[in-house]
Amino acid sequence: MKTLRNVLSESEKSRTAVGHFNISDLVALKAVAEAARGLKVPVIVGVSEGEREFVGVRQAAALVRSIREEFDLPIFLNADHTHSLAKAVEAAKAGFDSVVFDRSTLPFAENVSETKKAVEALKAINPSIIVEGEIGDIGSGSEIHDSTPESSRILTKPDEAKQFVASTGIDVLAPAVGNMHGLLRSMVRGEVHKRLDIARISEIKAATGVFMTLHGGSGTDDNDLRNAIQAGMNVVHINTELRLAWRRGLEKALSDQPNEVAAYKILPVAVEAVKSVVTGRLQLFRGSAARVAG
Ligand code: G3H
Ligand code: ZN
Repeated sequence: MKTLRNVLSESEKSRTAVGHFNISDLVALKAVAEAARGLKVPVIVGVSEGEREFVGVRQAAALVRSIREEFDLPIFLNADHTHSLAKAVEAAKAGFDSVVFDRSTLPFAENVSETKKAVEALKAINPSIIVEGEIGDIGSGSEIHDSTPESSRILTKPDEAKQFVASTGIDVLAPAVGNMHGLLRSMVRGEVHKRLDIARISEIKAATGVFMTLHGGSGTDDNDLRNAIQAGMNVVHINTELRLAWRRGLEKALSDQPNEVAAYKILPVAVEAVKSVVTGRLQLFRGSAARVAG
């Protein structure tokens, strides 16, 4: 079975990206796994601190491992946006394939020293674990926002990125390049899309030479996503779009079956709704989705 590092190296060569999808329950996990199996592509399942509080750290690890083994699917598990060393260590000990150690709200020098410490501690537990560090501010919360957070306009500088990578020893860098967590209401309605600074992504890639992750992928312009992947993004994170599909699918199922009480008869509608979003994004990340004109 391929490792996550193998999969990231392949994405670098083929200039495609690996989809990373957050889950909070079995509905979303089934949707992500079924979509990846259907397309025969690798995939990363992410659980943030809040999501793993609900799912359970060891339970998430056991569920993903069972899918990997049963279907021989390259499905990996990431401890997304981990803000403390204790929680990062807990995930590494539970067998997670990667950790996003996120101290991006700290001043740069403190972010460097804490991330360096985390890299050393996590590699001591599992030498092949992938550690991602984050600089710049892309806002927090895969939610529906009323307005753009002011901080999300501060973009990562290539020289700062170079220094961060060299001083911390991270495997993957998450920069701020116009991306932002969550969706504005206008994005939910499809009127507005997030736009990315593609030239900056190329400059950061050239300066650092490491794998890169694009966070805050929901609601991003499709051509910007394609160009970001060509410019060096190896992983793209999607969460809010899935949460929205989950909610809409669940609401539809409940209103279509007002007298149903069996969860296993209601929830498949939500699985299909989430799966359709995941399938569409995976096709785009692999470069096989229909090109949007213009
Ligand atoms: O880490 C998770 C993500 O970066 C997802 O962002 O909710 O905007 O898709 P999103
Ligand atoms: Zn994120």
